[in-house]
Amino acid sequence: EKLTLSVIKADVGGFVGHSAIHPDLIDTARMALEEARQKGWLIDFHVTACGDDLQLIMTHSRGVDDVEIHHLAWQVFERCTAIARKLKLYGAGQDLLTDAFSGNVRGMGPGVAEMELHERESEPVIIFMADKTSAGAWNLPLFRMFADPFNTAGLVISPSMHEGFRFEVHDVKQHKRIFFDTPAEMYDLLVFIGASGRYVIKAVYTRDGEIGAVSSTQRLALIAGKYVGKDDPVCIVRSQGKFPAVGEVLEPFTMPHIVEGWMRGSHYGPLMPVPVRQATPSRFDGPPRVAALGFQLANGGLIGPRDLFDDPGFDEVRRQVNVLADQLRRHGAFEPHRLPMDEMEYTTLPQVMEKLAERWEALPDEPVSV
Ligand code: F6R
Ligand code: MG
Ligand code: MG
Repeated sequence: EKLTLSVIKADVGGFVGHSAIHPDLIDTARMALEEARQKGWLIDFHVTACGDDLQLIMTHSRGVDDVEIHHLAWQVFERCTAIARKLKLYGAGQDLLTDAFSGNVRGMGPGVAEMELHERESEPVIIFMADKTSAGAWNLPLFRMFADPFNTAGLVISPSMHEGFRFEVHDVKQHKRIFFDTPAEMYDLLVFIGASGRYVIKAVYTRDGEIGAVSSTQRLALIAGKYVGKDDPVCIVRSQGKFPAVGEVLEPFTMPHIVEGWMRGSHYGPLMPVPVRQATPSRFDGPPRVAALGFQLANGGLIGPRDLFDDPGFDEVRRQVNVLADQLRRHGAFEPHRLPMDEMEYTTLPQVMEKLAERWEALPDEPVSV
């Protein structure tokens, strides 16, 4: 019997601004999922938030991309949107890009990471949730977890991991995918995933095809064709045994890794690992946050969560993030704090260009040097 773990998330209204979520939204979502559990649609669930994103963590036996489960999540987001409208929360219904559900929440605004698995004798899983950044933010940490021997000791010293892993990479612009085996094809893999705005690690598998990690790859801007808020991705990682140990899964986040998505989705900033209670980005609407909830699965039951970044072991990276955040902030409107012009999700460029169109003067030709 296979079990499905689904994480479906959406920003349906922020409190205050885009910094966090109102408790009534969490309560509403909990009530709705409890009803679904009692009807037997779900085995178990956990509702939480990262920044202004409402997170539905669910287990069931209906497989990935299931219409009923996606419809359920959509209805929960709609119910929460109604509350958000009543309280006039900021950006109510922001990520529900269409008016009517059409079979699958993918492409409709919400972010989705789902995996189907045979629950092992003991099954530790970690759910990562980020706010004020986009799907590519998992590339570097997933690479470190599953392919970097300086991060993951098990790649070197555990017989069950020594063969390496297989990475599934999506080209989110061309809607194509490719698989790479590491360590053999590590350099080819890096050519692509280093460009994390376009090439996104969708999943990681063991060499014998067992799923180890899956991420959400939605890019809202590509769906809607214009800026509609940040993607704020999620990622599920299985741990221990033939997968990286919990500590190896968390270790990549001890680096103040710089991601896109801070203020107006138009600035680079360091990703700060925090406990859920601190996943409330308010300084310059950031810096970008990542939270990690660990669960032990027990016949589909979600035993937990353990709030894994709630550990003084991550104090030093949080300090470094703040130092780096200060340094980047001092750049103001200058790159590389601000994103390059054509990647900014918020821009006055067309208006300013039009206003000044007449005032640009052609320069005389450069003198030809001999
Ligand atoms: C939202 C975000 C914020 C907003 C900013 C302006 O994820 O990154 O920095 O972009 O607060 O928000 P609006 O345009 O909604 O007033
Ligand atoms: Mg928002
Ligand atoms: Mg958000």
